[in-house]
Formats: sequence, structure tokens, C-alpha cells
Amino acid sequence: MVILDKICKSYNSGRPAVDQVSFSVEAGELVVLLGESGCGKTTLLKMINRLIEPTSGRIEVNGQDVRESRTVELRRSIGYVFQGIGLFPHMTVAENVGITPRLLGWPQEKITKCVDELLDLVHLPPGDYRQRTPDELSGGQQQRVGFARALAASPSLMLLDEPFGALDPVTRDRLQQEFAEIHRKFELTVVMVTHDVGEALLMADRIIVMRDGRILRSGTPGELLSDPQDGYVAELMATPRRHIEILESLIHQDKNPNLPSP
Ligand SMILES: Nc1ncnc2c1ncn2[C@@H]1O[C@H](COP(=O)(O)OP(=O)(O)OP(=O)(O)O)[C@@H](O)[C@H]1O
Ligand SMILES: [Mg+2]
Repeated sequence: MVILDKICKSYNSGRPAVDQVSFSVEAGELVVLLGESGCGKTTLLKMINRLIEPTSGRIEVNGQDVRESRTVELRRSIGYVFQGIGLFPHMTVAENVGITPRLLGWPQEKITKCVDELLDLVHLPPGDYRQRTPDELSGGQQQRVGFARALAASPSLMLLDEPFGALDPVTRDRLQQEFAEIHRKFELTVVMVTHDVGEALLMADRIIVMRDGRILRSGTPGELLSDPQDGYVAELMATPRRHIEILESLIHQDKNPNLPSP
């Protein structure tokens, strides 16, 4: 579905932001790009839908070199949820969700039906939410609208850049589960960026760990936890591992091994 071959991106002189990155994503797979701030995740994601052009290398989406696709059509065919939320503040929820269908020239009746279905899908009853503007929504509700907007043109590929970043833990957990359901239901292919190791482990079919613009390790969550093969990957996996161990011992012994006994 997506193939990246020896992708490099240099913004200025100095070290490239993305350096010789190659990987592929199978149809229906949810791949997470994981790494610390500044390691090149957003740059890499934006090159897939040509919001940024690579300095060198080749990217294919659906068997076609993205340089040979028309940029506007390519972007419309790929759902994109931004870092931050990026809703248009002066438009209603319905107008935000319906942007791509409107650009595609759908008749208004079809747009309205599609928008209402999508709002139902992301658990925002259309009767309550259709006419609100983004400033009348909570952060989690705004993010749901962002998902609905990205799903509006029935994309088979979704690019998500820290889509749950700004949410409280409960809303975050709920939205992660809801998105995982949408991913399975529509057999979406997803490339998602995060620097949250727990989120990566819970959501990914496969995790690609990046550092300084390069890929350090790629594998399933289980593989990365049981066999990190790299010092930095082991360090990343240490915290969730420790949390799992503490939780297990709390469940089994009803006490925290990290706390002194009373
Ligand atoms: N337009 C730009 N011009 C110059 N340098 C840039 C530009 N955009 C990004 N960079 C640099 O490229 C590197 C990678 O940035 P990028 O936004 O891809 O990181 P990231 O992994 O998404 O980080 P974060 O987790 O903080 O969002 C950083 O060092 C950043 O400063
Ligand atoms: Mg980023």
C-alpha cells in the first residue's frame, strides 16, 4: 500500500531531518512511527502525501510513485489528521467534516447524509453537534471531528500525527479504542506518529522506532518488548515494562513492589 525507498530530507545544511529511511506498509496494517521530539516523524509522514517533498528517494502509494500523482487528488485520497487539531474555526462541525465531499462536487443532500453518518460513527450525535463551531466543543470532541473529516472521502490510507496528544487520559483511551474499531471495520491502512510508547504498544500492528532521522528497529509490539536489540529501544520499552510488572504485582499481591512494606 505504501512503500518508502531510501528517503532523505534535508531542510538546511547540517544533519538531515530524515536520513535513508525505507519501509513498507501492507494494506490494512496500522504502523506506528515512534521516537522522541525532532527525530523526523512529522517530516516523514508529510512526505507521504507530498505536504513536504523529499530531497531524495522514492515513495509509492497504491503502486504509484507519488511524484506522478496529481498533488490535489493524492491529498484528497489520503485521510490526514494533524498534530494539533486544525479545524477551521469559522466553520460549523458539519462544514468542517464536509470539506472534501464539497471539493469533490457532491450534491448537498449526499454531503449532509455522509456528514451525519460520520458524526454518528465518532459518537457525536448530529442533531446536537452539526451546527456548533469548534470553540463550542471540548478538545476530545474537536479531535473526533478531525477524525470524521479525515474519513469523509472514504480514504483507504490514513496518516495520523499525534492524534491523541492533547487529551486527558480517559478521553485518550476511549478515542484510541474507538479509532482501533474504525480501523478494523473499514480495513484502513494507517501510519500513525506518536512519542507515547504506551500508545504505540497498544495500537500498533508494527512499530518503527526512529532516532535522529533514521530507523533503529521495526517489529511487532511483542517483538520490541521481548527482544529490543538496541539500547535506545530497550530504554523506550523499560517504562511500560515496569508499569506492567507493578500492575501485575498489584493485582496478584495487592501491594506495590516499589513501595516499602508497612
Ligand atoms: N520547515 C522546517 N525548516 C527547517 N527545519 C525543520 C522544518 N521542519 C522541521 N525541521 C527540523 O527537522 C527535524 C525533524 O522535525 P519533525 O517535525 O519531523 O520532528 P518530529 O519527530 O515530528 O518531532 P515532534 O515529536 O516534536 O513533533 C527537527 O530537527 C526540526 O527542527
Ligand atoms: Mg511532529
